[in-house]
Amino acid sequence: RVRVLTGITTSGTPHLGNYVGAIRPAVEASRVDDVESFFFLADYHALIKVQEPARVQRSTLEIAAAWLACGLEPDKVWFYRQSDIPEIPELTWLLTCVAGKGLLNRAHAYKAAVDRNRVEQLDDDAGITAGLFMYPVLMAADILLFNAHRVPVGRDQVQHIEMARDFGQRFNHLYGEHFTLPEAAVEEHVATLPGLDGRKMSKSYDNTIPLFAPREQLKKLIFAIKTDSRAPGEKKDTQESALFQLYQAFASASEVDAMRQAYADGIAWGDAKAMVFERIDQEVAPMRERYDGLMANPAHIEALLRDGAQRLRAAHATPLLAQLREAVGLRDLS
Ligand code: TYM
Repeated sequence: RVRVLTGITTSGTPHLGNYVGAIRPAVEASRVDDVESFFFLADYHALIKVQEPARVQRSTLEIAAAWLACGLEPDKVWFYRQSDIPEIPELTWLLTCVAGKGLLNRAHAYKAAVDRNRVEQLDDDAGITAGLFMYPVLMAADILLFNAHRVPVGRDQVQHIEMARDFGQRFNHLYGEHFTLPEAAVEEHVATLPGLDGRKMSKSYDNTIPLFAPREQLKKLIFAIKTDSRAPGEKKDTQESALFQLYQAFASASEVDAMRQAYADGIAWGDAKAMVFERIDQEVAPMRERYDGLMANPAHIEALLRDGAQRLRAAHATPLLAQLREAVGLRDLS
């Protein structure tokens, strides 16, 4: 069976970028026969950026509820919290010992942090934790532990999956064929969803639209998307338009064609925004209702996550780690 795996970092409220980049394609893939799915909450990854325990906990609940509201079927897929699987940090260490430091030096998140330091004329590594530097190794452990074939993600994560392939390959070369080499699955038309200011929608830019914002707030946020100063009647440019890209991520091909024509005909920005809002709301409204119901019952979510992790450890994680410990020359724990 094809194994599909993806995770979301529990560092904030789930947003439209998470939905179109990861949740929607992953849930769709999980409905295909012959697919075994692994969807998880990356709370160890959250600690790299967030040092507020209450926020990590709140976000874990929100992201779990979002997965369920978007149609994840907990009796058909593996659904779990990263920190409930101690084999993940254990594998992280085994991979750390084969991971090239030079490769990690080139990871986007680390390089971006170094570049910011250079602009401010600080030491390259000022304020950068080893956790940020090691982020791709932890992520490789998430993926390789379950021998995932396919990882649905937004474009920003592709480099990390290539690194997972690299670490897996080195390990296999040294110790025998233990790992499947994963491939990123990126939806071309929504590879990078823009946020309110036109940059990539991201918690770090504070430009996100929460996936389950109440209808009125969703409307307000969509009306706040940056547009140019072209007046009604003037032809609008689809290429540079965050609003258009957002619409594209939700609408059908024929709806997108109609919107392209409306841009060419000089639709007023207010009218375009109203259309984008209605289209997105139409898709998220039924899920929003389920989400609100789920958020009212955290104990139910907690029970699902614990049960998922327990079963998954027994079925996959513990046996694979035993095999890997033996392969590298460590003691058999059983
Ligand atoms: P995270 O939490 O930043 O984002 C979760 C998923 O949402 C996608 N995404 C986007 N897609 C399109 N447009 C956007 N603006 C946008 N913003 C976010 C991301 O590409 C991602 O697919 N390191 C990962 C979490 C992770 C993971 C893993 C993913 C940990 N281990 C193993 C896959 C496999 C992260 O921080 O994603």
